[in-house]
Amino acid sequence: MGSVYSVVPIIMPDQAILNHVARIIAAVTPQMPADAALRRYFYEHTYLAPQMRRAISRGVFICFRWKRWLDPQASRQTQAEHAMMLDERFQKDPRSVKAEALEARAVPDWLKAEMDLTPDYLRQIQREPALWLRARPGKAHQLAESLGKCEFTPASPDAVRYLGEKDLFRTPQFHEGEFEIQDLASQMVGIAAAPAAKQTWWDTCAGEGGKTLHLADLMQNKGLIWVTDRSEKRLQVFKKRSTRAKLYNHRSAFWDGSNHLPTKAKFDGILIDAPCSGVGTWQRNPHARWTTTIDDVRELATTQLTLLNHVAGSLKTGGRLIYAVCTLTRTETTGVVAAFSAAHPELAPAPLALPNANGASTAYLWPQDLTANGMFIAAWQKS
Ligand SMILES: C[S@@+](CC[C@H](N)C(=O)[O-])C[C@H]1O[C@@H](n2cnc3c(N)ncnc32)[C@H](O)[C@@H]1O
Repeated sequence: MGSVYSVVPIIMPDQAILNHVARIIAAVTPQMPADAALRRYFYEHTYLAPQMRRAISRGVFICFRWKRWLDPQASRQTQAEHAMMLDERFQKDPRSVKAEALEARAVPDWLKAEMDLTPDYLRQIQREPALWLRARPGKAHQLAESLGKCEFTPASPDAVRYLGEKDLFRTPQFHEGEFEIQDLASQMVGIAAAPAAKQTWWDTCAGEGGKTLHLADLMQNKGLIWVTDRSEKRLQVFKKRSTRAKLYNHRSAFWDGSNHLPTKAKFDGILIDAPCSGVGTWQRNPHARWTTTIDDVRELATTQLTLLNHVAGSLKTGGRLIYAVCTLTRTETTGVVAAFSAAHPELAPAPLALPNANGASTAYLWPQDLTANGMFIAAWQKS
């Protein structure tokens, strides 16, 4: 392993942080993912200050980003210490780790057959993820000024990258509905969908409504969005979020993805933000690299195709269907698109309303280009 080390001086990690990190990684299992283990640990250790919590969370995620560099026989403390030192060296000098080492160790072996693992992509997923906010339309500068420590992106006028350390959920701006915490790649899905005011849309896999709220904002709180999911609990969270955002142009209903549709209505637009393997979120959620399998990818692609087939008949003539997945595997992206297009000659590939899409009907959004999650988006129009 001598080749991965450079001459960059590094600072030894804090022992107290290492002890917390070691305890948390010991509790992580496929059934208890790292983020759930962290939540439980913080619930049980209420005395930990926000700054300490941030350092511990960071340490836990670092351990999973560098997992395959660590000696599984070593103590959890030693593993955590090694991971944090490797990480510090890498953040100071990303070229200190060779691309071949990243390809062999930063992702599971099955991924190679599913996507092109470029050095830029692999280096990006070893970095700390960015925190993105979506300001209400036209209010990004006002929000950035009131929160402080924000940056903008040419990708979207309403996106704001937050670089500060405030607990955003406790800010008055959050409680006033002035922003949503939403990854930039997710914001690009709303932009690609480009719903117009007074149209009728269906957000089929709405979950807690992150993208629904964006669609509602883009529709200027006019028209109607049907909001469905198979999780009633998530739909309840959406209702609270929409009240905070003062967005009322929606109606929610249960839909389990079956061919028993929640409505006979026909739509100007349908968004399927489908359940997926989440490979695009592996920078933020590195533990999932080691629990997601190729069988999951294949099974999810079947579900994605089924969902698309079930909603295709609900488009009006001229209506647009948007398919989005926060993954980058070929099976769940171009594989699903090819199978669906072949079965639906009544739907033509349609241009995505994305900057730089140049008329393309499909787009991969890469973490290294956007400094955000990876995402795939496709669009069709009913002729
Ligand atoms: C990617 S998440 C949606 C995230 C959401 N659109 C957002 O922006 O916050 C996928 C959603 O699909 C739902 N889901 C999973 N399988 C489903 C199925 N077979 N039918 C309908 N919804 C399903 C899940 O409950 C989950 O909320």
